[in-house]
Amino acid sequence: MRLNFITSSSEQTKEIGRKLSGFLSAGDVIFFLGELGGGKTTFISGIAEGLAIKENMSSPSFTLMNIYDFNKNGADLKLVHCDFYRIDSLKDITDTGIEEYLYDSKTVTLIEWGSLVKEIVCKKFLEIKFEYFFEDIVSGKNFDGINQKRKITFAASDAYWISKIEMLKNTMFV
Ligand SMILES: Nc1ncnc2c1ncn2[C@@H]1O[C@H](COP(=O)(O)OP(=O)(O)OP(=O)(O)O)[C@@H](O)[C@H]1O
Ligand SMILES: [Mg+2]
Repeated sequence: MRLNFITSSSEQTKEIGRKLSGFLSAGDVIFFLGELGGGKTTFISGIAEGLAIKENMSSPSFTLMNIYDFNKNGADLKLVHCDFYRIDSLKDITDTGIEEYLYDSKTVTLIEWGSLVKEIVCKKFLEIKFEYFFEDIVSGKNFDGINQKRKITFAASDAYWISKIEMLKNTMFV
């Protein structure tokens, strides 16, 4: 199942992240794909806000992995945010210690640039792709040189994530 949104500002992208956060459960794993500057970290900061994480989210480009604590319905949980841009060996990824958190029953794991990890994961996950969206670029209409539009595509292939995406869709169009 696929679901698309077009956003026109980083605030709109964050808002979808905030809404998705309400449907996240410990053990969930999401892969964030798409272009540089597409809005992956922006979306993730919306998720963090929705989970009432107060710390400012920095992009884990150098640290590879940032870990935040949050509480949901009385349970102490962790949000793990990874960025594996430029990492091209699985060993470098396992060296980060990610296996300790992936699908852990107290952790939500969000991975940017994680296609290498995706290949070795057999369990369910959600995929969210971010692309620049150029509206009518040929005629120049609605295109002012600074492109703030993004196309965000959710792809879910199992019943668990499909039902969460349906719930998200229902909150977005009311
Ligand atoms: N509609 C939009 N959605 C998200 N970000 C937007 C939008 N319009 C403009 N922006 C800007 O685009 C940039 C997106 O950066 P961000 O770090 O979130 O991307 P990213 O996909 O994580 O990039 P990277 O691949 O480098 O990690 C920010 O500067 C943000 O303000
Ligand atoms: Mg990023």
